[in-house]
Amino acid sequence: MRARDYARSIVSGDTLAAKLAPPPADLELEDEEPPLVIDQPGRPANLAIARARTARVPPLAGMRDPAQRARILHALANHELQAIELFAWALLAYPAAPLAFRRGLVAILADEQRHFALYCERLAAFGVTFGQHPVTGHFWNKLDHLATPLDFVCAMGLTFENANLDFAGDYAAAARACGDEATAAVLDQVHTDEIGHVHFGWIWLRRLAGDVDPWQAYLAHVRFPLGPKRARGARFDREARRRAGFDEEFIAHLEATEPTRPSGEPR
Ligand SMILES: [Fe+2]
Ligand SMILES: [Fe+2]
Repeated sequence: MRARDYARSIVSGDTLAAKLAPPPADLELEDEEPPLVIDQPGRPANLAIARARTARVPPLAGMRDPAQRARILHALANHELQAIELFAWALLAYPAAPLAFRRGLVAILADEQRHFALYCERLAAFGVTFGQHPVTGHFWNKLDHLATPLDFVCAMGLTFENANLDFAGDYAAAARACGDEATAAVLDQVHTDEIGHVHFGWIWLRRLAGDVDPWQAYLAHVRFPLGPKRARGARFDREARRRAGFDEEFIAHLEATEPTRPSGEPR
């Protein structure tokens, strides 16, 4: 199967099953056709992208209350769904990228599918089905400037997934604190895999930016409202950044950055 056909069925498919089809082993990564930039995903009616204000997510403290915890897990599953779609989106948008880059996109996409399934299992334990609550298009709304693979890794790997190194750890600790070991184990798994995804972003930042200082290259290729303030949480997991391969200078810059919420307020 051609990567283009597979990726298109993920992004434009209008069933959840289409999004969850694992990458076939014989996927052909070579693609000589022009880039295909899709501006919105196909979705079943219950997963149509809603305005952010109609899909409010409880704060971290809500993890103590099982009903709010399920709402949080629903939002985390929605992040994974968008990640699945966006890694497929990148296969379509960057057909001429190096094959090793495209292979990495496919491997991460498969991880995101596994994360989605893990969160859905936890939702089921609370009697909730994915799609029962409105979902936002948080990641989909930030795609307009991602012209190159370097822009993509700066937004996805080095901003969203980078911040998740802190958030997944916070949620895991909160789940554990209220005795929900099963949810904590899922978050630990996501955190571990996310280190690999951020490492992919770091490696390709280094390869694609050439001799430019990595921090300067990141700043030059990430666009507001994304950027370093959105690449970390209030608590900074330094060890996870080390394991992702960041150099000490890049870590120090990020650690010195004041994090902000999507609203622009400080965290
Ligand atoms: Fe994930
Ligand atoms: Fe990820």
